[in-house]
Order: sequence, then C-alpha cells, then structure tokens
Amino acid sequence: EETGKSGYDHYMIKEIHEQPRALRQCLRERVDEMAGTVDLDDLGDLSPTGVQFVACGTSYHAALYGAHLFREAGIPAQAFLASEYATSVPPIGDALVIGVTQSGETADTLSALRAAEKRGARTLVVTNVVGSTAARECDHAFYIRAGPEIGVAASKTFSSQLAALNLLTLGMTQGDDTREVINALRELPGDLQRILDESSAEAVAELYQDAGAYFFIGRGLQFPVALEGALKMKEITYKHAEGFAAGELKHGPLALVTADTPVFAVVIGDDEKARKTVGNVKEVEARDAPVVAITDGQTDVHRYADHVLQIPETHPRAAAVLANAHLQLLSYHTAAKLGRNIDKPRNLAKSVTVE
Ligand code: G6P
Repeated sequence: EETGKSGYDHYMIKEIHEQPRALRQCLRERVDEMAGTVDLDDLGDLSPTGVQFVACGTSYHAALYGAHLFREAGIPAQAFLASEYATSVPPIGDALVIGVTQSGETADTLSALRAAEKRGARTLVVTNVVGSTAARECDHAFYIRAGPEIGVAASKTFSSQLAALNLLTLGMTQGDDTREVINALRELPGDLQRILDESSAEAVAELYQDAGAYFFIGRGLQFPVALEGALKMKEITYKHAEGFAAGELKHGPLALVTADTPVFAVVIGDDEKARKTVGNVKEVEARDAPVVAITDGQTDVHRYADHVLQIPETHPRAAAVLANAHLQLLSYHTAAKLGRNIDKPRNLAKSVTVE
C-alpha cells in the first residue's frame, strides 16, 4: 500500500498531484491543435438538439458545468441528480442523455440511464472505467482517461471530467471561441502544476481548521466549483460545509453567516457576473465573516478578502479547474490537520451500487 502512494501520505493527495498528467492524457489525440478542432469521430454523428445530464455526487457537479457549456453553445441542456431523474423522468424528446460517472457503476446513474433508454433516448456516458456497466450499456462511451482513482473522494477524475466535457461540447457544437478554449485547455496542465506547487491553501486550512462551518460561493460556471468545494470539505473533514450560488446567498443562507463561518468565493474575470459576486462578498464581509477569494485578480475582490488563493488569467472554463485545485488542497489539508481518515471517510464508498 505504501508503494502505491509513491511517498505521499494519502492516495488523495497523490491523486491531486496526478492531475496535470491526467489532463494531458484526457486531451491527447483528441485535439487537433493545427486545425483548432476536436476529434470525436469514434462517437459518430451526435449533433444533439438538446442534452439531459444525469449524475451523482462530484460527477453531478461536473454535469452542471457540462450543461452550462452546452447552453453557452446554444443547445438546451440541463443537469439532473440521477436519483431524482429516475424517480420522475422528464420529457426527453430527441435529447441526448449523458451520464457522468467516474466508476460507471453507480446504481442511481445506471438506473437513470436505463429509464432514458427505455423511452427511446440515445445515451452516452462520460466515464473513467473502460468496460464498466455504464460503458457497456450506453450507446456511446467517452473515456476521461484519468487513470485509477483510489481515494474515496473524487479529485483528479473531477478535473478530467471537466476537460472531457469541454472536448465533448467543442466536438459537438460550433462555438465561436473553440480556438480560445483549446488554447486554454492546452495550458491547463502547466497552470495546474504551478498551483499545486505554490498554493497557500495549507496555510488557510491551518487558520480556519476550527471554524464552525464553511461556505463556498460562485456564479455561472464557478457555481459547480463552489458546490464541489463544499462537498469535498464535508466528505473528508466531516465539517459542515455548503456551496451556494452567489446570488442566492441573500435569499436565506446569509442568516448563517457569522465571524465563525469562513466564506470561500470563486471570482473569475471582470464581467458583470464577477462584479455581482464581488457585491455578494461585500455582504458577507459586512457580517464579519472571514473571506477567502479564489480569483484571477481581475476584480477588486482582494480588497474585501482576508486571503487570496491566486489563479492565473485564463478562459473561465479552465479557471474552474484551477480554482477547484486550491479548494481540493484546502479540504485535504484541513482533514489532515484534523486527523481524518482521508482516503476512506466514514460512511462513504467509492462506488455506491444501491439506490
Ligand atoms: C460516491 C462517491 C462520490 C462520487 C459518487 C458518484 O458517492 O463517494 O465521491 O462522486 O459516488 O460516483 P461516480 O462513480 O458515479 O462518479
């Protein structure tokens, strides 16, 4: 087991550090850099008129991100929690139903995909495991190629899912900024490596390890990052953590914000979305909450933040992966300081095969 960890204390931190390599594997041979195109020939002609995503846990957060990308490309898309989808299947029309599942074995996701198939839908799975049940049962499989993940809490497979969903949308739709996204994806492994080398997330974890609760906020593409930041924190530290859409904070959750609840705000770019999130940050700062900004520094959010976890300026799609890396390190180091069983958190399983 110790050799398997290659000198790291836990599989999870090893897998966090494997992300640059996992991303390179995901992108390899699928991106034609000269032509600025993505090759999805093995999937045939999918050109969907609509997309429904089904997924659980971390994969659901990737699905929310994926649905956002399709909508940006003008294709109606929605992400569903697989357990809810299977309970009440929405009208599918001729939408493509995409399951996102690291293992390809999650019972809720399989059940949702089967329900869709029974209604005549075309199905595709985005998975890490070749030959998994979902890969065998779906019409098409897109492999994220992250390599085996042992830690129960997903880390490298989430960033590879995000990269894979970029490739899928670029290959299936005519986006205006395909070349720009491809360039950002190419730079992602290097940018991610720098964050892993330089992040001050461990120092932030040290400061807030005794906090009563942790809140994460983000807007648009960064909303799934906030949800994933909170899920990781819950899973491996057993602390109360919640992710909120930044704009929703004032509609209830703000009542929970105190000087004992650090708020982690993902603020990328300097468009209207980012500026509105800075407004939300001011609201929590005014209630004495410690603020940690995960930002590329394009707004003045640092003025309201106690700490900044810096990411380089890049495309917002790539920024989501980079911001998430800081949050993975934050949760990991908090859990390590609290002495938690990081690779096998209580009550959780890597793959849940019951509904
Ligand atoms: C379990 C794991 C989570 C994972 C979820 C979905 O609950 O503990 O980390 O996100 O299953 O797994 P999947 O293999 O479908 O991505």
